[in-house]
Amino acid sequence: SASHGSGKPLMGFKAIPISTSDSLQIAPGYTASVLAPWGTALIDGAPNFKGDGSEDAAVQALQVGDNHDGIHFFALDGKNHEGLLVMNHEYCTVDEKTGAYVWLFGSKGGDVRKTWSKDNVHKSMNAHGVSVIHIQKNAKGQWDLVKGSAYHRRITAFSAMEMTGPASGDALLQTKGDPSGRRAQGTFNNCGNGFTPWGTYLTCEENFNNYFGTSGAEDRRNAAQKRYGLSAKGSTFQWEKHEARFDYAKEPNESNRFGWIVEIDPFNPGSIAQKRTALGRFKHENAAFALSKDGRAVVYMGDDQVNDYIYKFVSDGKYTKGGDNSQLLDKGKLYVARFDAGKAVGDFAGTGQWLLLDKQANPKLQADSSFANQAAVLVHARMAGDVVGATKMDRPEWVSVHPKTGEVYVTLTNNTSRTVADEANPRAKNVYGQIVRWREAGGDAAATTFEWDIFVLAGNPTVHTAPKDLRAGSANITADNTFNSPDGLAFDADGRLWIQTDGKYSNQGDYAGQGNNQMLCADPVTKEIRRFFVGPKEAEVTGITFTPDHKTMFINIQHPGEEGDSHWPGGGNSIPRSATVVITKDDGGVIGT
Ligand code: FEO
Ligand code: CA
Ligand code: CA
Ligand code: CA
Repeated sequence: SASHGSGKPLMGFKAIPISTSDSLQIAPGYTASVLAPWGTALIDGAPNFKGDGSEDAAVQALQVGDNHDGIHFFALDGKNHEGLLVMNHEYCTVDEKTGAYVWLFGSKGGDVRKTWSKDNVHKSMNAHGVSVIHIQKNAKGQWDLVKGSAYHRRITAFSAMEMTGPASGDALLQTKGDPSGRRAQGTFNNCGNGFTPWGTYLTCEENFNNYFGTSGAEDRRNAAQKRYGLSAKGSTFQWEKHEARFDYAKEPNESNRFGWIVEIDPFNPGSIAQKRTALGRFKHENAAFALSKDGRAVVYMGDDQVNDYIYKFVSDGKYTKGGDNSQLLDKGKLYVARFDAGKAVGDFAGTGQWLLLDKQANPKLQADSSFANQAAVLVHARMAGDVVGATKMDRPEWVSVHPKTGEVYVTLTNNTSRTVADEANPRAKNVYGQIVRWREAGGDAAATTFEWDIFVLAGNPTVHTAPKDLRAGSANITADNTFNSPDGLAFDADGRLWIQTDGKYSNQGDYAGQGNNQMLCADPVTKEIRRFFVGPKEAEVTGITFTPDHKTMFINIQHPGEEGDSHWPGGGNSIPRSATVVITKDDGGVIGT
């Protein structure tokens, strides 16, 4: 392995084989344990999970939510043994074919489609959102919830929110329920996350479109509602049947109040979450924070949809350590990325441009009367990206910034509907996905040009033949580390790149020998990739965070048994539950060494 200054290889663990078992598998010398599964009693007075999913809406509001995703550990006073674990509860698993909730209402009698009640809707709304969980290490060295802590908090689809930034109060955000256009209600489909150096959590609203529908027979969607993928008729989650604001025919602007980055202050339980409109509205995956050379806040963001875009926000103001940064994400420039082939064609590398999404400063947007003002550009950021000629990507998922070099990495999870390949998205019908990285001009996160290359083309060399068939993957993909659909992505402080997958787990055909979803670790210099962890059946592995000393890692297992076949983590006949997984090294060392 290459030296990284210290003379030690970056990765010190032994790679593990795939698994198709309903359990956690981890590299030798490491231990993985379960924390805070869905239904765990959180707020004072909450009952414990009954085991059959029969809790009502009021109880769910006091318990940990469903389908854990993005996560961040905020140390209390810099401690390695106590902090606030903040995590997203993205959604509830719904059977794609039948439309039934798979687990939220239990496995027996859980199909409540015929008796769909207001309480069912409210339970679903309360299972979504965010949890703030005060945790500490007990005498045995295990992590526990701190009983009765005032920090414990649930943020749900009911919680009061403020809309801030340039689109706040605009006509596009006004509804019958909120004529001011400044006070949204709730957050949902919170996918990945980010965090700021001033101690706030950024939760990212992704597939908000699946919550809006109508019981009317007519397709009354406008062009923007179609571009953002709202259903013409009923929605996946069926909230519109009991909450009129989710009926797009009754409240046509309500969906404009979702699809944002939401800033939460976990240290102030009474604080109101802020939807930051300056960062644009799309299906946000995560929010990767960086500082420009002159100290401005930069946030990198992917829009997780086939053939959609990568964005970055650059604040006007500068970050001040210990100062008031509470409005820093309200004023700045929003850009969308174009990836060009560069001088050499076919080398999986090139140059790129950040295209400014500004109604006044970009002549293409100035000339387009479909954007009345900058608020319209932000609310309809996807359509602004279309106008300025951004590059259609293979589903941009998580972005992460190398802690030392500032190089930026993004997972492009897959895109089976791609027909025309380009250099950054070099495969039509892309079933495996890739990781692209770029270097900003002058090493400055605020630059408007960059150079990029492909870090890894995921693929399957045991099914397809390299180098002719790109489906075999790039040279750093082998029979031992093959995987599909990279999604979660984060650097640790040493520069190890952690890669999580949310892909196909059939272990057959194109996916033969890939097993369950997993977490791998990569060396960004040598490009070597090793499998570190494998999740249980029908789950994805997502969310990455560490204690400050990097001796505890927290990740999430989401939607175990999404097709009905898992009893993780309870075993026996229990219904499966999303949960956090705590990873430690048995010798007490840094994770990954
Ligand atoms: Fe919620 Fe793009 O994963
Ligand atoms: Ca090229
Ligand atoms: Ca994801
Ligand atoms: Ca997910």
